[in-house]
Formats: sequence, structure tokens, C-alpha cells
Amino acid sequence: MNKISSIQKLEKDFVLELYNLTGSIKKSWPEISKQNKTVCLLFWEPSTRTKLSFEHAAKKLGFDVIDFSPSNSSLEKGESFEDTIKTILALKVDGLIVRHPETKISEKIVQMLPENVFFINAGDGNYAHPTQGLLDVFTMSEVVDLTKLNLTILGDAKHSRVIPSLLQTLDMLGCKNINYISPESLALPQTNIFSAISNDMLSKSDILYILRIQRERFSKEEGIDDKFFSENYQVNKEFIETTNFQGKIMHPGPINIGVEITRDISDGEDSLILKQVENGLYLRTALLQLLSSG
Ligand code: CP
Repeated sequence: MNKISSIQKLEKDFVLELYNLTGSIKKSWPEISKQNKTVCLLFWEPSTRTKLSFEHAAKKLGFDVIDFSPSNSSLEKGESFEDTIKTILALKVDGLIVRHPETKISEKIVQMLPENVFFINAGDGNYAHPTQGLLDVFTMSEVVDLTKLNLTILGDAKHSRVIPSLLQTLDMLGCKNINYISPESLALPQTNIFSAISNDMLSKSDILYILRIQRERFSKEEGIDDKFFSENYQVNKEFIETTNFQGKIMHPGPINIGVEITRDISDGEDSLILKQVENGLYLRTALLQLLSSG
């Protein structure tokens, strides 16, 4: 198994092996065994944490890293996506890590790759962001037994590519107790949404997982008023005091300070936001190690 397009394609044993290796890498960082491989990063959308952590992880493992920049490539001269992938494969890379705005393009790419080339979906449309889901659940597992976790997700779940991957990983590992808070227009279909803040629910939650409004994935007819959202759903000091929330704060990033969260909460002692970023480095290192040797 060397291609990750979504969590649904993974076996539970693979995820448990990945988490064991992530824990070992975390304990022994920066000591690591080196590999002689080449990986190509192909990011059609901006990224800070995903791209840099993959690049850092790959270099730490001894990979050569090629950074494909779509806007400076022959795509600009009319070359097709398919011919771009074929061209990169002809350059003898061992693996591709791809972020793209098109939902499910990862599944198309997997069909185009030979067996010996590994692939990681670094986020495609609102379909999947498997490594973010995996690293966030790993981070949750460090603070609470996943089978007992009481999780509240607040914000734009509807347009999130992280949420499907997060929920599939949590389901695989036995977490069933998940509540959602958002305006109806940002709700994931078929979820038990509380459009008003429930103090009772929040006071019992171990983790509050906050999402930004993902405007880049809105359709033309959709709209949301930032002022309405921040006045009613922003996680700030007053929100924490009123709801008596006593758990940990998580956010996959990037964060929009002053919209879904305030600076004092994102930087507060109960925030795991930078821990998520750090664990992303260890988990992506572990994943690259597993996929490139598999
Ligand atoms: N969470 C996430 O994917 O962040 P970046 O866009 O910075 O990679």
C-alpha cells in the first residue's frame, strides 16, 4: 500500500502502525534513518504547514525534493494536467505529494501512477485531507482516550476537506461522541447540528475543534456574513466563560484571528494548535517512511 487518496482506503492496522512510528519518531527526533529517494511536491493552492512539513520530513529522511510550481510551469503554455503528471514521472521521481482545488482529483491521479510510485493527497477540493485528519486524531489521542473522547466541531464543516478525513479516522478508532455547532448554511449534511451554542454540550466536551470559513470553496450562490458569524460563533474569552468549556482547543489552520477565534484563545494554555503543526511533521515523516519503503 503506497497511495493515500482518502482515509476510507486505509486499514485500521496501517493507521495504528503509522501512529506507533509517529510516536517513535517524535521521541527520537532529529535522529532518523536516511533514504535515497526523490519526491515531487505539486501544490496548486497555497499552503504553509502541509507543504513545509512534507518538505522538512522528506529532507530529514534524506529524500531529494523537487518543488513543482504550477504558475511557472508549462501548464501556462497549454500543457494538460495529464501530460504534466506524465512528464514528472518521466523524470524518475519516486513519489508525488499533491494539493489541488478539484474535488477527488486524487483518485484520478492514483489511476495514472505506476505501482512503484507512491502518492499522498495533500488536500483536494472538499474531498479529503488525509494527513491533516490523521495528525489531528493523533494529537487528540495524546490528551484523551479516543473511545471516551467527547468532541465538539465548530464552524464551516460543509466546505472543509479536513472534516471527512477527521471523521473517518475517528470512526475507525472508535470515537462516536461528536457534536457540531454552526449556522445551518455551513453545516455538514446529515449531522446533528446545534445552530445555537449549547452550554451543556460544551461544558462536557474534551476538545473544541474550530474551523475557519473556507470561502475559496463556496459556490457562486453561497454567502455568509463574517460579522454575523463572529458575533454569534466566535470562540473568545466570553464564549469560554459563558459555556464553561474546560477542554482543549484545536484548529487545523490557517486561523483567521478575529473571525472564528481570538488571539488570546489561539495562544492560550489550552490551545493545541501549534502542537498539531509539530505533530504534522512527525506524522508526515512516518508516513513518507512507510509509503516509500512499502
Ligand atoms: N491545515 C492546512 O492544510 O494548512 P496549510 O494550508 O497551511 O497547509
